[in-house]
Amino acid sequence: MPTFFAFLPATLVSAALLAASATAAAQAAPEPAPAASAAAADAPALVPIPGGPEAAGVRGPAPEGLYQALGEKAGIAALMGDMVDRALKDPRIGPMFENSFKQMRPQALKDSLAAQICVLTGGPCEYEGTDMKYAHAQLKIDKAQFNALVEVLQDAMDARGIPFTQQNRLLALLAPMHRDIITVR
Ligand code: HEM
Repeated sequence: MPTFFAFLPATLVSAALLAASATAAAQAAPEPAPAASAAAADAPALVPIPGGPEAAGVRGPAPEGLYQALGEKAGIAALMGDMVDRALKDPRIGPMFENSFKQMRPQALKDSLAAQICVLTGGPCEYEGTDMKYAHAQLKIDKAQFNALVEVLQDAMDARGIPFTQQNRLLALLAPMHRDIITVR
């Protein structure tokens, strides 16, 4: 792949990260305070958004043709399956997924991700998982781990021959979610 395009998505995500850094602290999930602290008692409980477009992270109309470019339901399911399998093998983030799979089946996460991407890209699916803030609140994800998953997704999209322009359109939909997913700063 041409070097210029190779770092485009990472640039995109980094730009989004920088642009939001001023407001991110205010929006981030509160770090659990020490049990004895008065702040812990005052902190509002994190209430999940239980499914639907808002929980999936839909912020506007889906980019025209992206759902088709990703191979519709079957292509998206295969892409998310491959992404989770690759994430598991990645030393930067694998242990985090490994740990979750003591509680949940890997296929359940793959299905939930596939439904989310389908909804985000305008496909005929329903997302039944929780919103991104709630889903990742306990995971202690930092910026490097977020970017590592983006890289893993790029590799999975490369492997399926998804064109760079379409890859970038999907990454642009996901980038703003860093505000809810990165809780370690
Ligand atoms: C834009 C980026 C991301 C998206 C769109 C995303 C999406 C999702 C979705 C849809 C779920 C399932 C929620 C549910 O069914 O209720 C989930 C769970 C999970 N995500 Fe992410 N995620 C992202 C980033 C990350 C990162 C960076 C990591 C770790 C490095 C991560 C690790 C996990 C794990 C381990 C779970 C399972 C949580 C559990 O045990 O319940 N995710 N994610």
